[in-house]
Amino acid sequence: MDEICKKFFVPFPKEIKDNSISLFYADPPWHYKGGKNRGEVKEYDCLSTETLEALKIHINRVAAKDSVLAMWTTGPKMQEACELIDKWDFRYKTVLFVWEKLYKNEKPIKGLGHYTRSATEFILLAGRGHITKFVCDRNMSQVQEVVRSDRHSEKPHLFADLLVQLFGDVPRLELFARTQKKGWFCWGNQIECQTIEHWLTSKTDDSSIPKGKNKRKHKHKTEGSSKKR
Ligand SMILES: C[S@@+](CC[C@H](N)C(=O)[O-])C[C@H]1O[C@@H](n2cnc3c(N)ncnc32)[C@H](O)[C@@H]1O
Repeated sequence: MDEICKKFFVPFPKEIKDNSISLFYADPPWHYKGGKNRGEVKEYDCLSTETLEALKIHINRVAAKDSVLAMWTTGPKMQEACELIDKWDFRYKTVLFVWEKLYKNEKPIKGLGHYTRSATEFILLAGRGHITKFVCDRNMSQVQEVVRSDRHSEKPHLFADLLVQLFGDVPRLELFARTQKKGWFCWGNQIECQTIEHWLTSKTDDSSIPKGKNKRKHKHKTEGSSKKR
């Protein structure tokens, strides 16, 4: 596994201290059958579950004893996502969020699918140790209707905000990120300006990892609009 990890994954910067991260937010580049014409294959490298498993080496270094993993998956990749959660040594808990995707006119998307026309993606919740202590909002809707952006695979920033509202302003790391987010360490091979300086200056207030458990007021303000249930 060491060799695979070295070959595919740049280590997280040393500024992320050992055993410090309480919240991981991951959107893995799942490999789908279907050839080179699939959108994600043109946009970025896709990885097998066996390769993704090797990221565990870096995750283990930074994960706090009690830590939450929120992982994006699609219907077809549900089983692999659960397997990857196990391989990373987290325990599957539940489906945390369902993203009901909307067109710009706010009508539900009618995507492709072998059986029904897909219109949703999911964030699975998993944990190591005790994670219920992190929950600071017990009134959040599981289903979130949010407009889809034009960029392939892009997830609404709303969900990162919801995770902070739900689990607090804890030290957090986004895996396979494509944009920097304020308050988050963001790691991924498509991030613009992935220098340590940028990484550190993108923190909330100073160069330290966010600490504490401040509740944040949620604003439904993302790319496009979202309907509240
Ligand atoms: C599903 S996309 C993430 C989309 C992102 N959540 C967003 O909202 O835009 C997966 C990302 O993982 C990145 N990736 C693929 N292989 C990687 C590797 N070996 N190391 C780091 N990132 C990788 C891809 O380039 C892509 O940016």
